[in-house]
Amino acid sequence: MKIKCPGCKKNINLREGTYPKEKKFSFLCPGCGTKIKINPQDKPAEETNASDQQRHLYGKDLKKHILKNNNSLPPIPDILLRAKKTIENPGHSAKELAKIISLDQAIAARVLKLANSAYFNFNPPIPTIEEACLLLGEKNLMSIIMVAQMTKMLDKSLKGYNIATGNLFYHSIASAVAAELIANEKMPLFDLDAFSSGLLHDCGKLILNDYVNQRKQEFIHLITVDKMTCYRAEIKMFGFSHAEIGFDLLESWHLPEIQTHAIGFHHNPGESGMNELSYILNAADYLAKKSGFSAADYCIESNHVLEAEVKDFLNIEDFEIEEFTKKIRNNVLEMTKDFTFS
Ligand SMILES: [Fe+2]
Ligand SMILES: [Fe+2]
Repeated sequence: MKIKCPGCKKNINLREGTYPKEKKFSFLCPGCGTKIKINPQDKPAEETNASDQQRHLYGKDLKKHILKNNNSLPPIPDILLRAKKTIENPGHSAKELAKIISLDQAIAARVLKLANSAYFNFNPPIPTIEEACLLLGEKNLMSIIMVAQMTKMLDKSLKGYNIATGNLFYHSIASAVAAELIANEKMPLFDLDAFSSGLLHDCGKLILNDYVNQRKQEFIHLITVDKMTCYRAEIKMFGFSHAEIGFDLLESWHLPEIQTHAIGFHHNPGESGMNELSYILNAADYLAKKSGFSAADYCIESNHVLEAEVKDFLNIEDFEIEEFTKKIRNNVLEMTKDFTFS
């Protein structure tokens, strides 16, 4: 049986006789550790990819069709879920957390590398995961686990959007750093939610990529000839955007509502019902691009201006934009120095 891991997209070949044919079963992806559930009643993975797209579907119907296709929606990474649950338990210990992180050697190595990056500036360096769990504090630790885990998901090249390997990752990190900086300076109440929602704000592109790729000429035309942003081009083609389908994905991950809502409106915060975090994400997205971390080379979004409405809402002055930009660039470079994609 051929399976595509919904987490890392690795193709896995299950040998006959090694799995039950008529019962539901699950196993861990050897590539990323994602728990893959198999129901023999479902269509085989290779038959349910985006090539099945019904061209006549649009808007709600198309979104429903995409959401029904389990392979498009990666499940919440296991380590992230377990770490989150452990941190939420007030009686947790650093040892418990270290054990969870150490389950995946690649993640553990990344967590340690990030903990010792110039961004956190620990001297002497942190030698073990357990000490990282003790010293970093829960907020930083959760951010680091998210970055370490999300690398696998965000480092992919997305052909539909012309995003080269690593660029979505850097754009996401820069947006996370930017969101945290803006929250710290302007709205400290959102300090805890800013980093993770910044990191995940464009995750809907992972889901829509195959569908954009199938209609790439039309997409490029809308962007280059009709001068639409990626966001507007998606709405024109599908009736919804990566922000909205990202909302659906993260809702299924049970991310805090304030974060999912903000991500759903990160391109149109004015329609969010005054969701402050969606304004922060909109400005963070702009500042990430202005700092040199734009994901796609042909998207007009890379030149867009910070809307006056967002500037006013967050009380951002022109001189602060330059200061933010410098800080974001430095922080991202410090955090990702020597970072390699596997
Ligand atoms: Fe976006
Ligand atoms: Fe973005």
